[in-house]
Amino acid sequence: MTTLAKEMKTMERLDPKKDGASPDVVAENLERMRELFPEVFAEGKVDFEALRETLGEYVEDKQERYSFTWHGKGRARRIAQTPSTGTLLPCPEESVDWDTTQNLFIEGDNLEVLKLLQKSYHRRVKMIYIDPPYNTGKEFIYPDKYQDNLATYLRYTGQVDDGGFKISSNAESSGRYHTNWLNMMYPRLKLARNLLRDDGVIFVSIDDHEVQNLRHLMDEIFGPENFVDTIIWQKIFTVKNSAQYFSAMHDYLVVYAREKASWTRNLLPRSAELDESYTNPDNDPRGPWTTNAVQARNYYGQGLYEIRSPAGQVFTPPPGTYWRVSQEKFKNLDDDGRIWWGKDGTSTPRIKKFLSEAKQGVVPSTLWLHTECGTNAEAKKDLLKRIQFQKPEMVFETPKPVRLIQHMMRLGTDAGGEDIILDFFAGSGSTGDAVMQLNTDDGGNRRFILVQLPEKTEAPDYATIAEITKARLRAATEAIAEESKDSLPGLNEAERVDLGFRVLKLASSNIKAWDADFDALDQALLNAVENIKNGRSEDDVLYELLLKYGLDLAIPIESRTVKGKKVYIIGAGALVVCLATGVTLDVVEGIAALKAELKPEVMRVVFRDAGFADDVVKTNTVQILKQAGIDDVKSL
Ligand SMILES: C[S@@+](CC[C@H](N)C(=O)[O-])C[C@H]1O[C@@H](n2cnc3c(N)ncnc32)[C@H](O)[C@@H]1O
Repeated sequence: MTTLAKEMKTMERLDPKKDGASPDVVAENLERMRELFPEVFAEGKVDFEALRETLGEYVEDKQERYSFTWHGKGRARRIAQTPSTGTLLPCPEESVDWDTTQNLFIEGDNLEVLKLLQKSYHRRVKMIYIDPPYNTGKEFIYPDKYQDNLATYLRYTGQVDDGGFKISSNAESSGRYHTNWLNMMYPRLKLARNLLRDDGVIFVSIDDHEVQNLRHLMDEIFGPENFVDTIIWQKIFTVKNSAQYFSAMHDYLVVYAREKASWTRNLLPRSAELDESYTNPDNDPRGPWTTNAVQARNYYGQGLYEIRSPAGQVFTPPPGTYWRVSQEKFKNLDDDGRIWWGKDGTSTPRIKKFLSEAKQGVVPSTLWLHTECGTNAEAKKDLLKRIQFQKPEMVFETPKPVRLIQHMMRLGTDAGGEDIILDFFAGSGSTGDAVMQLNTDDGGNRRFILVQLPEKTEAPDYATIAEITKARLRAATEAIAEESKDSLPGLNEAERVDLGFRVLKLASSNIKAWDADFDALDQALLNAVENIKNGRSEDDVLYELLLKYGLDLAIPIESRTVKGKKVYIIGAGALVVCLATGVTLDVVEGIAALKAELKPEVMRVVFRDAGFADDVVKTNTVQILKQAGIDDVKSL
């Protein structure tokens, strides 16, 4: 072997342990801990005694202490930390505007999907809205498995045949009623928090079945200091006379910020009615105005003085009230024409409030009325406006109204900020519909990511809820495009509202070795065989690579032919992938030339391990690309 050949780096294969689809959270946390407390590590393991000594007075040793726990909490924590071995398969045929859209609909169990999204969307989501099962005793609660959660999903969806697998509802009579719900929610919320931006916010719909448990969970995961408020949403506006005790008319929305100090809530837009209450009877050059009383119930240390009107009347505050401004301030306001004495100048004085000086918006309250945010009944109408069901009553009892979700988005996102909104209990897809409608109304460019399980339905027309979600989104895109078509011709492609969505589906990895039990297999044997599963396309593999490299699943992908072989250029050269077979040195040199042409900061290149024409090409590839300034070259 020549010296050059010895110096040459051999091509690394993507390693399921290092490059696995979702990050190994435990390993990452240990690494951080090692940076902080190197002294507590002994032969790669944590020495708890040493940690205890290092933390001193901050260790809680008491048996009886304030804590929130339930059966299975430790396991739920471990479930959140176990990496996923799955992938997301692209489904352009079920999508709308596949090539251009930034919106995603992901079909799958949200636990696995949240794990897969950890790299690509880490700290990128501006707002999460979820409407999880309320645990009323009628819904099923997804049974996570610690070791083989993906296998459970594959069995549930019939991707692996096990002769009929059914998940029953979580009945109140079950001894593990709250426990099952907490075990399901804990890992999902924990993973979801990682995706939120520092200035991000999460809204969770819930009712009295689990509101107290949800608050505890959220306090633990987001920190009590990041609790924002619990909102009451009036979901029904008529009292049910059949109610045994009280007629329930509201749900809650529990709101936490990722970091309260970084989150600013927007003001709500001022309504036309509010603005119409401003008039200008005296043609004040400062424009329309309304008035506030001068007297107040509280004594602000200002006033019990006498006020004399221009007509000579004397006013004192009515009994039990006080003037809200000092005598001097009142005189200044009067001199500036800001006191209104009535049309004939004899009324009790009032302070003018000009529309031009009013706040740009309205401060939101914790009470969201049906007049502003709609009801469950309105939500059903929103859904039925989009799609028809033979038996609508069998499908959705409590979808959420578009207006309710838009209200949250107005507070929690910016129209032009390309903000990502995530809903991983998407149901009928109201969140996607709401995003597209709001963007159309205010010219925004918000994006959505929805996740929904293909939960089987009893309905004759849609086999799963995921089918309903997609049908609704498709209908929404058509209807909104039709409604807004008059405003479209003037807009160019970039200015048009994104009314599409990419469909991706949870499945086992495309790469054979990655879902095998590594410790039990002879790696050498695996190396010799084709590693990509039968029936999986190049596009399937490509999307798995996007997840592994932490790239956006809506990133533009260009494909080119380089010396007769198909090469994918992702994110303007951030990643270049060639999955062809029979790759020669010509092709490798053609790929090397892309670095100078596209000038990405870093270019990573991935080949199919069995794709090289011969071993000489494979050995030389790393060197050729290195000379072009490409250091990250891998095969799979
Ligand atoms: C209360 S519904 C959401 C309704 C939705 N907000 C709407 O307006 O239509 C909760 C949804 O979460 C889904 N779901 C439950 N467990 C899930 C899981 N593990 N992964 C993904 N979706 C799940 C259910 O199928 C159901 O459609």
